[in-house]
Amino acid sequence: MSEWESAEYEPSLPVSEKSNALTRDIDQASAERIVRMLQLCDAQMFQEETGPTYQRLLSCQMVRTLMEVAERVHLILQDPQDSLVVLSGCGTSGRLAFFITSGFNKALRQLNRSDIYSYIIAGGDRALFSSQEAPEDDPKLGMLSLKKACEGKKRVLFFGISCGLSAPFVAGQLNFCLQNLDVFTPVLLGFNPVHQARDELIPGCNFTFRSVAEKMQELAKGQKAFLINPAVGPEAISGSSRMKGGSGTKILLEVVLSAAHAATFANTPITYHSVLQNISAYQQTLDKTYSRRVEMAALVEAAGHSLACGGRVIYLGWGSLGLLGLIDASECIPTFGADHEDVRAFVSGGYQELNNAEGPLSSLGPAFCISHEDFLQLVLPDLSNKDTVLLVFTCSDDVNQVAKLARRVRVKTSNLHAVYHLTDRDTAEQADIIKLCSSTLNLTWPADPPASWSSLNMQWELSTKLLLNAVSTGAHILKGKIYQNHMIDLQVSNSKLYCRATRLLQRMSGQKESECEEALLKAIYRVDVLTADITSCGVKSHVHMAARHKKVVPLALVCLLTGCSIKEAESHLEEKPIVREAVAVYASKVISSTRLMKYGPFKNN
Ligand code: F6P
Repeated sequence: MSEWESAEYEPSLPVSEKSNALTRDIDQASAERIVRMLQLCDAQMFQEETGPTYQRLLSCQMVRTLMEVAERVHLILQDPQDSLVVLSGCGTSGRLAFFITSGFNKALRQLNRSDIYSYIIAGGDRALFSSQEAPEDDPKLGMLSLKKACEGKKRVLFFGISCGLSAPFVAGQLNFCLQNLDVFTPVLLGFNPVHQARDELIPGCNFTFRSVAEKMQELAKGQKAFLINPAVGPEAISGSSRMKGGSGTKILLEVVLSAAHAATFANTPITYHSVLQNISAYQQTLDKTYSRRVEMAALVEAAGHSLACGGRVIYLGWGSLGLLGLIDASECIPTFGADHEDVRAFVSGGYQELNNAEGPLSSLGPAFCISHEDFLQLVLPDLSNKDTVLLVFTCSDDVNQVAKLARRVRVKTSNLHAVYHLTDRDTAEQADIIKLCSSTLNLTWPADPPASWSSLNMQWELSTKLLLNAVSTGAHILKGKIYQNHMIDLQVSNSKLYCRATRLLQRMSGQKESECEEALLKAIYRVDVLTADITSCGVKSHVHMAARHKKVVPLALVCLLTGCSIKEAESHLEEKPIVREAVAVYASKVISSTRLMKYGPFKNN
């Protein structure tokens, strides 16, 4: 049994918010050890059930539920008239809803069928690659967007994705489904057991996420609702659900939808064995990817060095792997308080490849310019050796085009790397690209069964997601953004993050919850004394105000640890701009200075 499964381990926290014992000192680790720790954390996804508290990905009941949900999708695929399958979520969960919807609609189009999948992301399409956390708190917005997406439909299978079983946006949608069971069948997808779902009353509503999940649990007995909520263990960086939460979401949805497609279009029945086999294929993908730990560590090292010396990390991707690059890069903003320039991604074909519902968004600003042409125009001119560029492609992409772009990048920087997937039957010549790159990580996959072309593509995607998550997470760890295994400089941009920030302050300072919340508010409003005007406002106003400032949580922490004023704390942080270092000093922790010596003093942390 893993430590986190014991009832005594951080008992007040759901699994998705617990800290992972495996990564307690990830902030002190070398690039290679970081990757090893990520591997061990990811492997927890596939660990077997050890007791009644936590259902796991491979638990019998879980496999059966996946089969039941796949049957529902199959029914819709057989008779799609007036029917829809909707995938919805916030942040990464919404991005993956989009990603998976796109892939499976594409598969339908190849079979001359109409689209039946539709996605909703809190905050709309701009949230696909920018940080839009506030809409996550709005259950009414969730409900209205679902209603709009399903206008005129007579049968809707709705997947509400919330890794932490926590987003009010999704709770509002599930609650709406429960009131309209004649049309809607709700499926809740997340990674906590129901008794750990968020239980705070949602302002303006008479339900909590937990009460909705409990109702669904009741209805699940008669298959009027479904819960897909295996525990996958705490995240490597506490609460960073983009990692295992995101991978688990991708695996589970793909297992369900692939089984339904195979049943409908290839006459392959949905069986326990086939579902189990499909999940196991993802486990093998994980093992195969991490078997290249040394090469992964080299990429982490290069990216970490770039970020630490004020450079950028740039992903240049093709096809769906390019989309994963966009997703990974956009997540760095809320997760690490990164600037949108720090980790950027561009995809061949830009919005045409994306094919998102709201169409091209480049008019919203440079952060929304996503094509390779945009890269050539906006980034290439001042690219230097400080920046790390990573080419991400597969053998089914146009390798001549990859080589052409690589040549243009190589003129500006030698810090060019490639990650690519190919099959054992592939004959395309990558020698040109290899010559241009300072490192390459190529993974060769068997072209023969059991993998069909589309399932092979899904394995490449998971592998790429793991690689990119490791690169961006590892790079930010090396930059000094993480303390132990916590992100201290998180953006306080919604109620979940407000609670997480208060909890983090308690953990780091050892002070009472009320004192920590007070310090947080002082840091948000930049005052030494809280007025009644401030304390009478709700969390919604606090997070709105928090969005105006940087380093809110570190500031609150320095105040708590030193008892100094906000102004003094600001100047302490200016002197020690590396958040981890500042925290370590003030918390009187002994930290090794190796990393600092290695990367030198930091600017713009
Ligand atoms: O709001 C921030 C965030 O934590 C994102 O990083 C995350 O992807 C999103 O919330 C959704 O969380 P969940 O899937 O638990 O609802």
